[in-house]
Amino acid sequence: MASRILVIASFIAIAVAIVTAFEPSPLQDFCVADPTSSARVNGLACLDSKKVQANHFSFSGLHIPGNTSNALGSALKPVFVAQLPGLNTLGISMARIDYAPWGLVPPHSHPRATEILTVLEGRLLVGFVTSNPENRLITKVLEKGDVFVFPIGLVHFQRNVGPGNAFSISSLSSQNPGVILIANTLFGS
Ligand SMILES: *[C@@H]1O[C@H](CO)[C@@H](O)[C@H](O)[C@H]1NC(C)=O
Repeated sequence: MASRILVIASFIAIAVAIVTAFEPSPLQDFCVADPTSSARVNGLACLDSKKVQANHFSFSGLHIPGNTSNALGSALKPVFVAQLPGLNTLGISMARIDYAPWGLVPPHSHPRATEILTVLEGRLLVGFVTSNPENRLITKVLEKGDVFVFPIGLVHFQRNVGPGNAFSISSLSSQNPGVILIANTLFGS
């Protein structure tokens, strides 16, 4: 009986370890992405550390607003591993989102990341929906300086409900968060 409990407990421990270690932990100081490598690994192969420069850990231009002249009235500027190779294996990234008046980031989810967002200009209505069976909508209007977190995998959205333009900065717990746009997934596939 005691050994059975031990077996069950160790299964739970393994499951929890898998959940909490969602993105592999680095096994070295850094692993700057080498997009030219033909090695197939989970993430990107490491550039020879002797070739690594400060610019591999740097990105510029996040102060420049995105072009929101599109059907949704919003623009995403990602700083993911594709834009900042030093993010490879570190389990973190960020993005700037600009919103025209009534601009929308439609319902979507990130399969690999929790997202924490802060409003730096304007007023945003944000929200997410809990998973089945509740499907509860949790929403809030954010003012400049407010922070909101979208838990990993859950469907969420942002909408500019202020009188002018808005913009926000998000941090995401993956070098490559991925995006599943609900409407595109259902009707575009
Ligand atoms: C913004 O995008 C629109 C539509 O693609 C384009 O016509 C316009 O020139 C762009 N504006 C700037 C400042 O790039």
